[in-house]
Amino acid sequence: MYEHDVIVVGAGGAGLRAAVAAHEAGADVAMVSKLHPVRSHTGAAEGGINAALQEGDDWELHAYDTMKGSDYLGDAPAVETLAQDAPEETINLEHWGMPFSREEDGRVSQRPFGGLSYPRTTYAGAETGHHLLHTMYEQVVKRGIQVYDEWYVMNLATTDEPDPNDRECHGVVGYDVQSGKIEGFKANQGVVLATGGPGQAFDHTTNAVSCTGDGHAMAYRAGAPLEDMEFIQFHPTSLPSTGVLISEGVRGEGGILYNNEGERFMFEHGYANNSGELASRDVVARAELTEVNEGRGVEDEYVHLDMRHLGEERIMDRLENILHLAEDFEGVDGLVEPMPVKPGQHYAMGGIEVDENGQTCVSGLYAAGECACVSVHGGNRLGGNALPELIVFGKRAGRHAAGDDLGEPQIRTGYGDDVEDETDADLPVQPGEAGLDTTGGVAADGGITADAEGVLERTVETARERVDRLMNKDDGVQHAEIRAKLQKAMTDNVNVFRTEEGVKKALKAIRECRQEYQDVYVDDPSRTFNTDLQQTIETRNLIDVAESIALGALVRNEFRGAHWRQENQIRDDENWLKHTLISWDEGEPSIFYRPVILEGENKTYEPKERSY
Ligand code: FUM
Repeated sequence: MYEHDVIVVGAGGAGLRAAVAAHEAGADVAMVSKLHPVRSHTGAAEGGINAALQEGDDWELHAYDTMKGSDYLGDAPAVETLAQDAPEETINLEHWGMPFSREEDGRVSQRPFGGLSYPRTTYAGAETGHHLLHTMYEQVVKRGIQVYDEWYVMNLATTDEPDPNDRECHGVVGYDVQSGKIEGFKANQGVVLATGGPGQAFDHTTNAVSCTGDGHAMAYRAGAPLEDMEFIQFHPTSLPSTGVLISEGVRGEGGILYNNEGERFMFEHGYANNSGELASRDVVARAELTEVNEGRGVEDEYVHLDMRHLGEERIMDRLENILHLAEDFEGVDGLVEPMPVKPGQHYAMGGIEVDENGQTCVSGLYAAGECACVSVHGGNRLGGNALPELIVFGKRAGRHAAGDDLGEPQIRTGYGDDVEDETDADLPVQPGEAGLDTTGGVAADGGITADAEGVLERTVETARERVDRLMNKDDGVQHAEIRAKLQKAMTDNVNVFRTEEGVKKALKAIRECRQEYQDVYVDDPSRTFNTDLQQTIETRNLIDVAESIALGALVRNEFRGAHWRQENQIRDDENWLKHTLISWDEGEPSIFYRPVILEGENKTYEPKERSY
């Protein structure tokens, strides 16, 4: 068994920042990650980091834009913390050596991004996330922070009191991809989940194959609710054949969207008369698909993004990476022809419910970054707000886990007296329970109320038994079949435009996947580098996460941010100014709601009609 004060799971932007912060607060920190840190999916973030750095801009404008972008589902204390702390954290990155793009006079450049009232997005070419990862990994190496890379965390070692608010997390169980051994990692002070998004629940996504919602699923099964999972962002400009991201930075620099009639449809069809291509992502994604659905798409599938008029010099200076991506993945030369683009799953606004300090309702369990929902993005995230979230809330989670006092949070977590229960969801199937593989989660396993070592030993034992069972089974169904079915059901039915019937279809398919998973087996007999085994375990996580997305999409019968429902195409503030929470309750999901906090430090963000 390994032992540290703070264990950070995942080594992307949020994990690295949390680890450095916990180390600075005096903790013995270790990172446990299924990937080497610089291979984390943060490296695919192209566009930038929003921070109010310039004269004329200020944090209050950033907070206002974020709240409006969220369609008033962000919690003001979190939104304001993000906007207030982003400038200092961005400057800190610059001091750590992050190679930001600069103006002639040496100042860090800032470009316009969708939904911003000021050009606020700092960037490093069109590979900001890549440089962010390398800059922060250097800080981890410099401090001698222990990194267990290519260790896949399978489970949380959590006590199993009936009320999740009474549970404690004492560590994690990891599977060493290189050797196949399974070991416990005891965390004396806290576990910070920074495992990224669940994009692999969809089959057309900008997300890497590693984005399998592992942290979401582990926290969920340990008793921490998942919040606002129905809010999935579909980025307007992904390449049609692969889902590879073409940065919003292209539109920020002046790139234009055209339909098959050569119309600049964002203006000409009145989708966003002021901001055009730089409306927020939910607006642009719906506009593109409306064009396609009404017969004005190219090859009935996509639209064109044209940057030729920007000129080679500017493109090479600020968007060189985009030229390579379009050429390598779509065979298109962006200097001489427009690029084909369509909406692709990109980001999960929801995630593990946490407060401003990154804490879940399970004592000792934290989450930060895309896997967490604090909530700053509400119904729709603004481009350029993910990276500041990683550094601002990654740092807070790391510090708090290491024992720093960050003050009383205003955001509440877990089931409590401020929540409202779901009373009338018409579910097509009883989700969750069918074909339940209880060994995926500690909470469902029973009897783990011993001391920290006992909890960990028992959880390790359960994980070893689970792997043995998967490895000893000779035939059955392979994870790839189940995963493909799940991804197709989600992409077909829980996409930009959603109907009750479609979401119910997805839920039925997810239940079938859960049943089929009972018969899953691992074909590769090797104990070393067995990606078949790892992906089999990931697939179980995807089933849980996809179910929570579809359940949230079914119960939220309104149109808010990225969640459009055919049956009720209006934002219904009277009934739905609240967060959806889904918790794993004795082996099946249960749904409840918590009000949104609109009261900020100096003002209340009154919901207004949202137009761009
Ligand atoms: O379009 C982009 O470059 C992505 C940025 C983001 O998701 O924040």
